[in-house]
Amino acid sequence: MPFYHQLGKIPHKRHTTFKKEDGSYHYEELFGTIGFDGMSSLMYHVQRPTQVKEILGRKSVAPKISEKNNIKSYRLKGFQVAPEKDFLDSRKIVLTNSDCNIILASPQQSTEDYFYKNTDADEVIFIHKGTGKLRTMMGNLDFKYGDYLVIPRGMIYKMDFDTEDNRLFIVESYRPIYTPKKYRNWFGQLLEHSPYCERDIRIPYELETYDEKGDFLIKIKKQDELIEMVYAQHPFSVAGWDGYNFPYAFSIHDFEPITGRVHLPPPIHQTFETDAFVICSFVPRLYDYHPESIPAPYNHSNIDSDEVLYYVDGDFMSRNDIEPGHISLHPAGIPHGPHPGAMERSIGKTETEELAVMVDTFKPLMVTEEAMKIADDSYYKSWLED
Ligand SMILES: [Fe+2]
Repeated sequence: MPFYHQLGKIPHKRHTTFKKEDGSYHYEELFGTIGFDGMSSLMYHVQRPTQVKEILGRKSVAPKISEKNNIKSYRLKGFQVAPEKDFLDSRKIVLTNSDCNIILASPQQSTEDYFYKNTDADEVIFIHKGTGKLRTMMGNLDFKYGDYLVIPRGMIYKMDFDTEDNRLFIVESYRPIYTPKKYRNWFGQLLEHSPYCERDIRIPYELETYDEKGDFLIKIKKQDELIEMVYAQHPFSVAGWDGYNFPYAFSIHDFEPITGRVHLPPPIHQTFETDAFVICSFVPRLYDYHPESIPAPYNHSNIDSDEVLYYVDGDFMSRNDIEPGHISLHPAGIPHGPHPGAMERSIGKTETEELAVMVDTFKPLMVTEEAMKIADDSYYKSWLED
């Protein structure tokens, strides 16, 4: 996050002695990105964070590709992804390229007997259904319907769910995830015309500090493998930290829509960015107010980006037969647009209740075998007139 935050106890000066009550030392750790050039935080552990005890094993979690060079538009019925008890087992990669994985998950149980760390990718977890608590080494964040949880790579975390009824839309990004540059000033502050500001961003609270030794299992995702490592110290051993690199939450319901007299393009919905894709929020809003305006989007060619829309709630004006939990994939290179009748239906409408998350990737996405299990294979012909 491009602002400074501090939680727990830290010494007056960085890189100086910092003693615990019993006179022993805290152990400082720099938690940084992009070598020493990106955002970073300094953490102060009550136990050394380096005490690897065992490497138990590893398994591949690489997505199995069904269509590598995809030219078809797809509709995926996301709620058909079967619920699974375990958080990691439940994560099904449906679309993938070398920059990101797009994942659907319906976990039923909290992560009880292990911790998780993704060393390669930042994660954005969008909460479609469910409430609970994201517990991290840097503090906790409560989550509920509509929250984006942004978790930087390397963060050790657990997910606590209140019930078994959870639906998550997850983007794993090998590129750092930032707030849009166009909305930041040269100090990093979000500008007045930004659809959200720092006040809308929820920062970790409730730092859990365990001064415990034992056997602690961390499942580490690295290079498409899940590696099980046992540490001798509790992974939540941070007594305090400060800096810019930390997990945070932002609710889609706090995204203020930008509207115009005639149709405005998707960049006005932009919420996060990387140098390889953007994430946009389509939220309830007033429609265009020119007397002759057409609220439905015009046909458009994503010449060099794939467009993924995850439908969350409300009425999706431009599509027929779309329900919450569905994903539409409109691949680069061919035009798409409103379904037959949708443009005409939209004229004269004054507002929409639609809620959706969009991911536009610059590199093409490959369709996985998991996606094919929930795919509507005829969607690509859905623009044919009767
Ligand atoms: Fe589109």
